[in-house]
Amino acid sequence: MDLPKQDLTQAIERWFREEARDLPWRRKRTRWRSFVSEIMLQQTQVSRVVERFEPFMKLFPTPADLAKASEDSVNAAWAGLGYYRRARNLQTAACQIVQRHGGRVPSKLEDLLALQGVGRYTAGAIASIACGGQAPIVDGNVHRVLARLTADPFALDDRECAKRTWACSEELVEASGDPGVFNEGLMELGSQICTKHSPVCERCPVARWCESRKRGLVDEIPPVRKRPRKLVEHHHAVGILRGRRIMFQQRSDKGRWAGLWQLPTVESEKRLRPAEIRSKLDFDVDALKHIGSFERVLTHRRIRFHVYRAAMQSGQRVGSRGRWHGLTEGQMPPLGAAQKKTLDVLAASMRCD
Ligand code: ADE
Repeated sequence: MDLPKQDLTQAIERWFREEARDLPWRRKRTRWRSFVSEIMLQQTQVSRVVERFEPFMKLFPTPADLAKASEDSVNAAWAGLGYYRRARNLQTAACQIVQRHGGRVPSKLEDLLALQGVGRYTAGAIASIACGGQAPIVDGNVHRVLARLTADPFALDDRECAKRTWACSEELVEASGDPGVFNEGLMELGSQICTKHSPVCERCPVARWCESRKRGLVDEIPPVRKRPRKLVEHHHAVGILRGRRIMFQQRSDKGRWAGLWQLPTVESEKRLRPAEIRSKLDFDVDALKHIGSFERVLTHRRIRFHVYRAAMQSGQRVGSRGRWHGLTEGQMPPLGAAQKKTLDVLAASMRCD
């Protein structure tokens, strides 16, 4: 790498010390706070994490507190952060921290990497930010900064390019004065200055060394990836009321929204007719009435939710996974955001009755 590593890392550290956003996990640093924040920040916008971080830490101030909590209470505290598998992984990691490390988040990269749900980026972030280790980090933001600095014209999904970027990140963090400040500065630079669209090069602390800027390539690097078209799924959710109670089913403990609850739902690749939906439920209901639809866009697919109402004859069994719950907020089981929305659609239709 031809970059003047020490000047460059110092410039990023100085800039970050002056310009860092005031974020909750930066106010008080502990290994556990760093661990929780980095897991929450995986694939999730900072603004969402900002609202939910301190309430979560209050409920689970140590790994031991999270390790012994009920799955439902962890899911409830995770509400709004999405990708609930992370909550389950975080709890498993907390158990591992208790068993293997006496309840203290380890500082070594290999030990961090061995914890559930911790990949190379997250391990590097915790090892450097919370423990001062010289561990590299690469995610989309960091890759953009480094690819622009070095005018590397490839995308991160190119294996050789990924290797180059990790090597570059490693060389830099090893040259830095404070690995944690440098790494978090690199993240901050990618999210606040060296943005995907309209980067603010005039305010960039390392613009003078930026090869893409010199060559007028900032808008072309990194190249925009062509995304494969998202698959479409149809989820037919059926609201069945009995008095002041409503039927829920728990999702399987594997896959998307694992372990969360939902209205009885039939999933398929195409839109189903009411008779087809009825035949796929594991209990009997009367005619279905369609009351509304909406769409959720996830990383790899679009899901169209179609919400129905149905009556159930008294005495009918609810199927093996069904359970009746009261309709007030406090009586609801843990639900994902999309599942809450199906209930909103249902509630709106009941107000129109
Ligand atoms: N994204 C991932 N880790 C982060 C951090 N520590 N601060 C801000 N954004 C982040």
